[in-house]
Amino acid sequence: MSALKISSEQINRQRDFSYKIKSINDDFERKNARKKKMFIATFGCQMNSRDSEKIEGMLFEMGFEKTDNEKDADFIIYNTCCVRENAENKVYGNLGYLKNIKKEKPELIIALCGCMLQEESAVDIIKKKYKHVDLAFGTFNLYKLPELLYTRIESGRTVFDIWKEHKEIAENLPSIRKYSYKASVNIMYGCDNFCSYCIVPYVRGRERSRQSKDIIKEINELVKDGVKEVTLLGQNVNSYGKGLDENISFAKLLRMINDIDGLKRIRFMTSHPKDLSDELIDAMAELDKVCKHIHLPFQAGNNDILKKMNRRYTKESYIELTEKIKRKIPNISITTDIIIGFPGEGEKEVSDTIDVIKKVEFSGAFTFLYSKRTGTPAASMENQISEEDMKKGFNKVLDVLNPIIYKKSSEHIGKVYEVLCEEQGDDGFISGRLDDNSLVHFKGEKKLCGEFVNVNITDCKTFYLIGEIIKD
Ligand code: 5AD
Ligand code: SF4
Repeated sequence: MSALKISSEQINRQRDFSYKIKSINDDFERKNARKKKMFIATFGCQMNSRDSEKIEGMLFEMGFEKTDNEKDADFIIYNTCCVRENAENKVYGNLGYLKNIKKEKPELIIALCGCMLQEESAVDIIKKKYKHVDLAFGTFNLYKLPELLYTRIESGRTVFDIWKEHKEIAENLPSIRKYSYKASVNIMYGCDNFCSYCIVPYVRGRERSRQSKDIIKEINELVKDGVKEVTLLGQNVNSYGKGLDENISFAKLLRMINDIDGLKRIRFMTSHPKDLSDELIDAMAELDKVCKHIHLPFQAGNNDILKKMNRRYTKESYIELTEKIKRKIPNISITTDIIIGFPGEGEKEVSDTIDVIKKVEFSGAFTFLYSKRTGTPAASMENQISEEDMKKGFNKVLDVLNPIIYKKSSEHIGKVYEVLCEEQGDDGFISGRLDDNSLVHFKGEKKLCGEFVNVNITDCKTFYLIGEIIKD
């Protein structure tokens, strides 16, 4: 089966709705001597950030202008996340605040989209408690935003359009990229892994890969526009290509992207340890543009817990895998995700997690307290851990992890690295990234943003390096 795509007729139909809204917005501009303003808030991961770029692109086509001040907006959209409870609570908190804004400004349109909207329980709460939400759609029909907004504007009624599952991918949506020199590119959507704690497979649907020619075309266009670094996005990039007609794997895709002239760096995330192939490790070792960094979540170190998490690897096989990666790709940095407090994870189990941290010596890690997600198998498991015990475990993990990250960081001191300059902070310092994804701060002029420079690393903190530019 080739990748299923939303038809170009459907995409064009949406463009027609965009133009209709644009003429309404143009009218508004003539009468009020200002454009209608949009405010977009993005919660969660890079997938959502990328979706928000598409939302911004569509709204721009409709004639909206961006504002960073929520109070000034005529249209507010929250692109939500539900991977952990606190992400949801933030959305509910903000929605409570919007109620007052809407009272003062009834013509304001409030929209919600993203992962929370794929959760029935969240939609029930929104419909019951947050009646000031005007428009909502989920992760499968983002491309329909113009039609849904037009319906809301024309009818004045609340519009909820949430699909349970959809296999078709929307290509060629307009989008406004956050950066001119680096970009994220979706290579696949959804996840079939069903880790027992995780809600993503329920809210993002089954795995579906984009055709390689569409990915290559997008990257070629980005490079023409000045992009030097791409990050390929997928919940599990190792299974890229499954279900496509073409005979392709993620490693083969990397080889094709590596051949793109003008592109300098290729990153990707996330890889699942259960199916990281030798073919991929070899490709990473060999391809000059592929950054020497891999994000390889291990989640927990205890084998019983890993089994209950449905991760399909063991502590030993994970450690072996990282040793193989280090052997084949010297100086690679390995980062990870860790969950603390999964059901049944007591002191003994946490000590296995700590053991993995010591053996692998991660360069960085995202650490999360386990969050019970309704509808996932783990939510109904016995031996849920108390918050107090979770926090104890969490602190123990950090006590071991942070000095290791510091040690890995300090290994850069005294060496010179090529750095892509990203942003200039208020303190005048530029922040940029090394090939291995380490963050570095150094003095420099704003005009360097988007350029590569050589930086000598002079010092380090746990989570970033400090350096100075080498003038040539
Ligand atoms: N509780 C805590 N962390 C979670 N993650 C996913 N689901 C949960 C949950 N229910 C973490 C995992 C994953 C990362 C993106 O989020 O570590 O790798
Ligand atoms: Fe969630 Fe596991 Fe899929 Fe990652 S691989 S998105 S943790 S189910």
